[in-house]
Amino acid sequence: SATVTAVHDLAGRQVVVSAGGTRERLDPVRFLGNRSSGRQGYALARAAAARGAEVTLVAANVALPDPAGVKVVRVESTAELRDAVLSAAASADAVVMAAAPADFRPVTTSEVKIKKADDGSAPAITLQQNPDILKEISTHRARPESVIVGFAAETGDATGSVLDLARAKLARKGCDLLVVNDVSGGAVFGSTDNEAVILGADGSAVDVPHGSKSALAHLIWDQVVTRLS
Ligand code: CTP
Ligand code: CA
Repeated sequence: SATVTAVHDLAGRQVVVSAGGTRERLDPVRFLGNRSSGRQGYALARAAAARGAEVTLVAANVALPDPAGVKVVRVESTAELRDAVLSAAASADAVVMAAAPADFRPVTTSEVKIKKADDGSAPAITLQQNPDILKEISTHRARPESVIVGFAAETGDATGSVLDLARAKLARKGCDLLVVNDVSGGAVFGSTDNEAVILGADGSAVDVPHGSKSALAHLIWDQVVTRLS
């Protein structure tokens, strides 16, 4: 959808957006992955380009056409996503981590296809944690004045409400903004629309009513622009 914006408030700015879901290889034909479509990240990249930014889009396994006027870097695993994001973040004014990195990867990857045993047994897969890219770029900033944005899809649980958990996550990550989706009522994955709250490390909270991913993208960039020096 065409968003008309007369404001080039990101002109002269370099921004990085990550999108999609990473895959961790088990063997040559199998992987652990997730259902992130990459649509919100692509909407963010498109919106930033429309506002005049120089955009690097780091795309993990996304089946969408490259947005016009955007540099697209394709990656597969969380390790590759980390390399690409860290490299682009070095000169970026803003980084938005809209990707869903796999939290875990197999300790070992088989070079050959894993076969079934005749006795009906199944292999055990041992996992290890992946690096936390958002936390890393937030706590070790290449540029201290950069604005860093995370995403979180949360359900409330016994330990707290969606917003309690999101506030705690924002503090834990050390980012400036956290875009929170309440997924208690069902998955947002793959849908064309979104509804969110944009939390700021400064205590701000902007409610975003149900609307398009493009509309949410522009509201996120509005929050970023007010924080750029
Ligand atoms: N993220 C990241 N690196 C990871 C995992 C997550 O940079 N290894 C980023 C995501 O891109 C997102 C934010 O962190 O912007 C929050 O992701 P989420 O999965 O909610 O956070 P986790 O710390 O993995 O917490 P959880 O245990 O709830 O999955
Ligand atoms: Ca996670």
